[in-house]
Amino acid sequence: MYLFNIYLFIYLFLGILGEDALLPSPQNISILSTNMRHFLTWSPVTIQGETVRYSVEFQGEYEREYANESWIPICECSLITATVCNITEDISATVAYNLRVRADIGARRSQWGTLKGFFNRITTSLTPPPMKVIADGYHLLVELKDMGPAFQFCVLYWKKEPYWLMQWKMVKDVSSTVHLDTMEAGHDYCVKAQTYVETINRSSSFSQTQCVRAQGGRSLWLVTAMMSSAGFALAALTLLFLAWKTSKIFQYSCCPIAVLPDTLVTSLLCFIFFRMMNIHRSMGQAKKADTCI
Ligand SMILES: *[C@@H]1O[C@H](CO)[C@@H](O)[C@H](O)[C@H]1NC(C)=O
Ligand SMILES: *[C@@H]1O[C@H](CO)[C@@H](O)[C@H](O)[C@H]1NC(C)=O
Ligand SMILES: *[C@@H]1O[C@H](CO)[C@@H](O)[C@H](O)[C@H]1NC(C)=O
Ligand SMILES: *[C@@H]1O[C@H](CO)[C@@H](O)[C@H](O)[C@H]1NC(C)=O
Repeated sequence: MYLFNIYLFIYLFLGILGEDALLPSPQNISILSTNMRHFLTWSPVTIQGETVRYSVEFQGEYEREYANESWIPICECSLITATVCNITEDISATVAYNLRVRADIGARRSQWGTLKGFFNRITTSLTPPPMKVIADGYHLLVELKDMGPAFQFCVLYWKKEPYWLMQWKMVKDVSSTVHLDTMEAGHDYCVKAQTYVETINRSSSFSQTQCVRAQGGRSLWLVTAMMSSAGFALAALTLLFLAWKTSKIFQYSCCPIAVLPDTLVTSLLCFIFFRMMNIHRSMGQAKKADTCI
């Protein structure tokens, strides 16, 4: 009878141990960290017909070095059924953190499953900012997505042609649309941006370049130029015609001067034409020269 009791005791004891052993600790514990938002994930512990709950704890550098290696429970992730925990608020310093998860079913618990290695938020992956470039009349504007107070944006912008002088602006407050530049009519302006996080002194890669065209295209400028040229030519022709008429009148009235030869008229027209061409060309050159400074 006594022996039987001992056997029963050992059986029960092993049974309890066995039950405990049946509850495995969470595996595949890893961190997903993007744009300074950090999540701890793990593979679910599946027990037939049971709801498994999980609890998460962390240990920062301070707890490890000065608080007797204590662990701090994350209240939002205490006895949760999800297999992900938002640890963003708990990772408050740029130091190495350790994290662990335990599974629970009622009174039965697993061992702690611990993250392999440490997590430091400096390793967060930063993505380029979603942005929208707008041409509002002659104003070059950019809208950047608010990614939180830790984020700043380095915005590069330039006039596409005829030169590539890049300008940049550091943007901290993205609550409203940011004014970058006043544009020249008919020109393309391009913008790209990257995020910067001061607390970890790191930047994302640049976003894809977006270009917009300022109002009043090149065609409009060309039409204006052609119209003024035509007007100029018409005026010149009228003047020439008048001069020729006057000379004729003078010729007949008083002075016996030879008639202005036709060739002179055409060469005069060509001269005017080339002058105009030259003016346009030199205007173009002046523009280019400006841009190289
Ligand atoms: C851990 O992840 C691997 C691959 O991602 C998977 O094959 C394995 O089943 C996972 N472990 C657990 C306990 O779920
Ligand atoms: C640190 O932990 C050890 C054992 O884990 C314990 O004996 C000791 O009293 C603790 N010290 C403090 C200051 O809590
Ligand atoms: C995670 O927590 C941060 C900080 O409290 C919060 O801003 C963010 O929206 C949370 N993310 C999710 C997906 O719950
Ligand atoms: C940030 O990093 C750059 C190099 O990437 C370094 O030159 C600079 O000194 C750092 N700034 C701070 C405040 O740590």
